[in-house]
Amino acid sequence: GAVRPRLAFLGCGYLGTTYAVCFAELGYDVVGMDVNAEKVAKLAAGDLPIHEPGLEALLRRNLDSGRLRFTTSYEDIAEFADVHFICVGTPQRPDSDAADLSQVETCVTDLAPHLRRKALILGKSTVPVGTAEWVETLVQRHAPPEAGVEVAWSPEFLQEGFAVEDVLRPNRVVFGVKSDWARDMLYAVHKGVFELAAVEDREVPVVVGDFATAELVKVAANAFLATKISFINAMADLCEATGGDVTLLARAIGYDDRIGPKFLRAGVGFGGGCLPKDIRAFVARAEELGVGDSLRFLHEVDRVNARRRTKVVQMVAEMCGRTSGPNGPDLSGLRVAILGVTFKANSDDVRDSPALSVARKLMRAGAVVTAYDPEGMIPAKNVVPDAAYAKSVNEALAGADLVCVLTAWEEFRHADPAALAELVSHRRIIDGTNSVDPTLWTGAGWTYRGMGRPSI
Ligand code: UDX
Repeated sequence: GAVRPRLAFLGCGYLGTTYAVCFAELGYDVVGMDVNAEKVAKLAAGDLPIHEPGLEALLRRNLDSGRLRFTTSYEDIAEFADVHFICVGTPQRPDSDAADLSQVETCVTDLAPHLRRKALILGKSTVPVGTAEWVETLVQRHAPPEAGVEVAWSPEFLQEGFAVEDVLRPNRVVFGVKSDWARDMLYAVHKGVFELAAVEDREVPVVVGDFATAELVKVAANAFLATKISFINAMADLCEATGGDVTLLARAIGYDDRIGPKFLRAGVGFGGGCLPKDIRAFVARAEELGVGDSLRFLHEVDRVNARRRTKVVQMVAEMCGRTSGPNGPDLSGLRVAILGVTFKANSDDVRDSPALSVARKLMRAGAVVTAYDPEGMIPAKNVVPDAAYAKSVNEALAGADLVCVLTAWEEFRHADPAALAELVSHRRIIDGTNSVDPTLWTGAGWTYRGMGRPSI
């Protein structure tokens, strides 16, 4: 196989842009391709349309070095690249829980006719199991047969906020292949990753398998993570019913290295562009395959997660002495300050954000919501335009009857509860993230409630 294959990334969204930039950084000649000319122009000018620590500096450096460029042309990438990474979106369909594969279909069928030499089409997007086989049939139908184009699948495991590290220093790579040529090509594609690891005296484990396994690895990992979060949130309910403290419980079970300490933070539950949609699509696919019973528990994982959001609304009502009617609590006129609108800290992403879901529910119950977030204000305004938005923590808290911390930003952990106490109407705080220090806040005269912790 080629020593340094030339790489194209189809789809310059979060995934494609991060991969394109990082592989240029690893020394490959890279082109990012997107049908959106405006996006391509921005990227080519060194402007990153997403928030990801460290990525913009790498984008500019690699544009300058000449290893990275962007295009809107399928002809261009077909001519240029040995490997075509499919990085387009696979959103949830509006009419069901299944994934919408139309972008995958479009990019493969539009690229394939232009392929004049042997190349690898490499799937990265998160897809229902069986997609790689289907992509192979699309390639057979649309690519010139003499080119001998092959397909492979290699899932990604990026976490927002750590995406650069996750590409440069993955904790494993997974190759789903059908031929030795494709396997060798995937090793060549990852040579830069292996070399960096060797320099740093690390190893990157490689798992080589078939298409189905490679596709399943990704959704299985996400399903496991979602299950872990809903598990600890279910334990939070048990703690609340009994006076226990779920943060201590998590620490104690986490010392068992079969369980591990990570992903055991109880709170408002998981959100974001991946976990919620991926587990729903996984269940939908299992049903199609006739093994729906095996993933029935993921419905429950989703329901536990959804209840976290209504739970915050109930807590607000309880703390403010509001009664519940048949349609839930009446919060009319209550002024609630929401700190954090993104689905997690260190991100500007508000997709399926638990915080915004809580904001909507509070407003539906009659509350007047003012929100502040260090990074997520602009996207939040688009999704929940009827909330008020403040420019600072102080401005959000002015006159509030209650404060809800719903994203675990550092800034909120370091806020001074004594100074903030002067701004509010009532000193009540709900920490939906269990990230602020309860003793600090109660010490400054606040009534505090966390998630799955005794109230003090
Ligand atoms: C996730 C997976 O981690 C990643 O491997 C996959 O590729 C994409 O989906 P991401 O969506 O960036 O990544 O967020 P992550 O950091 O995993 O958090 C997901 C959600 O779970 C967030 O809403 C977060 O606040 C929540 N969470 C996480 C908890 O509620 N408790 C925890 O202990 C951990």
